[in-house]
Amino acid sequence: MSAEEVAKFYNNLHNQDVEDRQSSRIIYLRGFNNWIKSMLIQDAKAQINQVFPGNKFVTVLDLACGKGGDMWKWQKADIEEIIFADVASKSIEQCKQRYMEGRTRTGNHAAFGASFIVIDATGERLADKLPRPMLFEIVSCQFALHYAFRSEKHLRMMLYNISLNLKPKGVFVGTMTDAERIVQYLRRTNNGIFENDVVRVEYMDKSISNWSNLTPPLFGAKIKFALDTQVNCPEYLGYFPLLIEIAKEFNLELVFYRSFPEAIDHYYNKIDNRNLMGRMRALEEYPIDDERYNAAKENFSGYRKLKEEYDHAEKKRKEIQNSGERRSPYCIGTLSKSEWEAINMYCMFMFRKK
Ligand SMILES: C[S@@+](CC[C@H](N)C(=O)[O-])C[C@H]1O[C@@H](n2cnc3c(N)ncnc32)[C@H](O)[C@@H]1O
Repeated sequence: MSAEEVAKFYNNLHNQDVEDRQSSRIIYLRGFNNWIKSMLIQDAKAQINQVFPGNKFVTVLDLACGKGGDMWKWQKADIEEIIFADVASKSIEQCKQRYMEGRTRTGNHAAFGASFIVIDATGERLADKLPRPMLFEIVSCQFALHYAFRSEKHLRMMLYNISLNLKPKGVFVGTMTDAERIVQYLRRTNNGIFENDVVRVEYMDKSISNWSNLTPPLFGAKIKFALDTQVNCPEYLGYFPLLIEIAKEFNLELVFYRSFPEAIDHYYNKIDNRNLMGRMRALEEYPIDDERYNAAKENFSGYRKLKEEYDHAEKKRKEIQNSGERRSPYCIGTLSKSEWEAINMYCMFMFRKK
């Protein structure tokens, strides 16, 4: 899958309207992913505030930004300027439109400056496309770095672009699918296809004879990854230990790696983070009463009543009830088993430029 094919795929993706998104089976998973990105952006900004105290002019590169879904998270982080870059020109157009509309809503006053760049970050030099020579405090690459694992050359070009324009002590943050975790699921199959209610992963090399021993190559391990009805274009397995090693050559040292489940443990203790989780609808309430379910089910098909999808939630609820910790916990926040399996396939990370 070349960068042009990726661009074609994303350019052709129909522009799901809000209603569509609300009724998706993965409404909570989307909320959860947005919450994770908010946590990461918050971490990145805190780190920068610590390293560059008093620097009020934080500049960000959002590489593979898509339609700019993180724009308002960055606004909240109080940054000065952002460069949105993506290989899909239509996504960049929509991103720009979103920014302009946001400006209009806020009385023509943009809280941060923005520029928009169409670039294949795995094949072109970003420095040639920037509006002026720039150095970023933060580079962010959300849900996209795995595309660069097509080949060593592609990954190196991407890291070159990330590192060259990053200030020393600046941070590179991101989220991506995690090869090690996906391979664990694929090894349990007899045909290289892992599928549940919301996620489908298919390993494209069909010459494998023993799936329980699946050992993908470090680069070019092609998979098809689909969430809900939204089929993503073919992508590649990205092996994180390899990223750590190659990133060192670009002066990027790992600050932290967290699988998404580990991230919950890390961030959940802080009350503000928990509250944000509620506001972003990152968790589903379990159980929901019939009245609310009936009222909501047409709009939120994410609410599911399949017993096996919520066994874990029922168990936890009983555990809390029996422990006497809370008198009668009517509702707990949860995700369906299928969504949880999908979440297990991702990780978040931070690197620091030496
Ligand atoms: C799953 S979307 C993520 C979009 C956005 N970062 C987010 O979190 O919502 C992956 C994005 O990566 C972009 N992408 C893939 N390969 C790229 C490349 N070589 N250079 C720049 N962008 C790329 C795609 O066009 C797409 O917008």
